[in-house]
Amino acid sequence: MAPRTLPHIFLTRTLPEAVMDKLIKRFDVHVQDSDRPITRAQLLRGLRSADGLISMLSDPIDRSAIEAAPRLKIIANYAVGYNNVDLKAAAERNILVTNTPGVLTETTADLAWSLLMAVARRIPEADQLVRSGTWRGWAPTELLGSDIYGKTLGIVGMGRIGQAMARRAEGFSMKVVYTQRHRLSLREEKKRHVSYLSLARLLRTSDYVSLHLPLTEASFHLIDGKALGRMKTSAFLINTARGPIVDERALMLALREKRIAGAGLDVFEAEPRLTPRLTQIKNLVMAPHIGSASTETRIQMGLIVLENIKACFSGRVPPNMLN
Ligand code: DGY
Repeated sequence: MAPRTLPHIFLTRTLPEAVMDKLIKRFDVHVQDSDRPITRAQLLRGLRSADGLISMLSDPIDRSAIEAAPRLKIIANYAVGYNNVDLKAAAERNILVTNTPGVLTETTADLAWSLLMAVARRIPEADQLVRSGTWRGWAPTELLGSDIYGKTLGIVGMGRIGQAMARRAEGFSMKVVYTQRHRLSLREEKKRHVSYLSLARLLRTSDYVSLHLPLTEASFHLIDGKALGRMKTSAFLINTARGPIVDERALMLALREKRIAGAGLDVFEAEPRLTPRLTQIKNLVMAPHIGSASTETRIQMGLIVLENIKACFSGRVPPNMLN
């Protein structure tokens, strides 16, 4: 009997070892092994013979990439966000698309919270001062930040991660307001201790505004100059969702002119490129898109990808199918 050929899975980046070991046992795995995002040419080459693709959030899997993949059955995105994949083009070719929801909720909320605290209490500046050797000792007016306890947190997007933010806010006795397209039921709002506001009112009343919504046509530049103008001058903006939800240039100007107090960003409009001079802004704490970057979570995300691929090639519906 001829040996059964294993489905050929093309992987655009190496995943944690615990995941790679499992993948290799079940599939014929081809990895674009590099410490950089895959180039377009490498992606198109890899797709020519792939039955399955494991893509990263930084890989644009658009119509032309999908058309260059004659055998492709599944695009398993190693992320919860999937704005990098053309779902319509995939559906037209009967290619399944999956993501990795759930497992990165708490980790991403932890990071959003870290940015919030870091910018409110000026931790990077404080760290820099201690390291510089120029610290002269305790002073009554040095590095004064803003209180978090008892303030108002405005959550834009009350999905899994938004809810995880709201849970954390309870520990800080914060008032939590939220906005999203579909309002929660009054019962849910009561259970979660949150109240609904329009975006405009949320921006006007919150001390901290944290974004937890997907990037879509409707959310592109949702936080533009006008929205930033509605925020209090003492308020902070936190973005761990997707860069293009915020007009980065408008944010830079608002920060520079002290029209808002500060921002914490894990995501950028054209990452890894930054708006020129963004790095010179002081009241801004930045992280290189590490929302889900804990060892445990990145392994869990890989195991979800594996489950989705296994389901696809054994004729089952993948648990996290998007289209
Ligand atoms: C995701 O999975 O979409 C996150 O942005 C990863 O950090």
